[in-house]
Amino acid sequence: MPRKIAAGNWKMNGVQSTLAELRTLEDKHGDADIAILICPPFTLISACEDTPFDIGGQDCHPEDAGAHTGDISAEMLADAGASYVLVGHSERRTDHGETDALVATKAQAAYDAGLIAVICIGETLDEREGGNTLDVIDAQLEGSVPATADALNTVIAYEPVWAIGTGKVPTTQQIAEVHSHIRTRLSDRFADGAAFSLLYGGSVKGSNAADIFAVPHVNGALVGGASLTAQDFSPIIAALEEA
Ligand code: PGA
Repeated sequence: MPRKIAAGNWKMNGVQSTLAELRTLEDKHGDADIAILICPPFTLISACEDTPFDIGGQDCHPEDAGAHTGDISAEMLADAGASYVLVGHSERRTDHGETDALVATKAQAAYDAGLIAVICIGETLDEREGGNTLDVIDAQLEGSVPATADALNTVIAYEPVWAIGTGKVPTTQQIAEVHSHIRTRLSDRFADGAAFSLLYGGSVKGSNAADIFAVPHVNGALVGGASLTAQDFSPIIAALEEA
């Protein structure tokens, strides 16, 4: 069975005082039997070590070390206390021109450092309106997910670019179509494809979480804006616990 994961991606948000949100979350969900993953900015990873939650970086460089000013390696994330890392988030693909091939090398770097890679994929609005969603998903899965992936070292997050931070959410039928497609492709390619956790991401909120978690092959969510406060994130976690 795929593991249920409620993941919060804080993006470029969060300072020391934000950690109070995690203490509130801990009071409510410290004993949850689903995985709760927090991906804070790099500066807060070490400070999250005393929480009961899984901690992840938001990106890593493909290499372990070297002359790459401003970058961070998977090994450094692991050393700071992370057990996961997001790779290929659409904001990295757009803001930093990251290609599928680069994302695959980052995922491999994550595996080599003992981290679980959350590999993000998703179509733009143009691609959806052009009827190309499943082709885009196929190309991203093929290009971004290394041959060495398995259900223990990899989580796939389907995040339609047009749903991220916009308040626009695909219909549950649209999510179902893509998630079952991803499941089929993973099962074709990997012996344990049925066991990969598949997350939906893009404008997940307390008000829509239960409907999204009822969709087949949705094993959790990658949440941006609504993960920043305990008040907003807690109902999403609760909905996943109940799903
Ligand atoms: P959002 O972001 O929940 O704010 O739409 C999701 C994400 O980018 O992971």
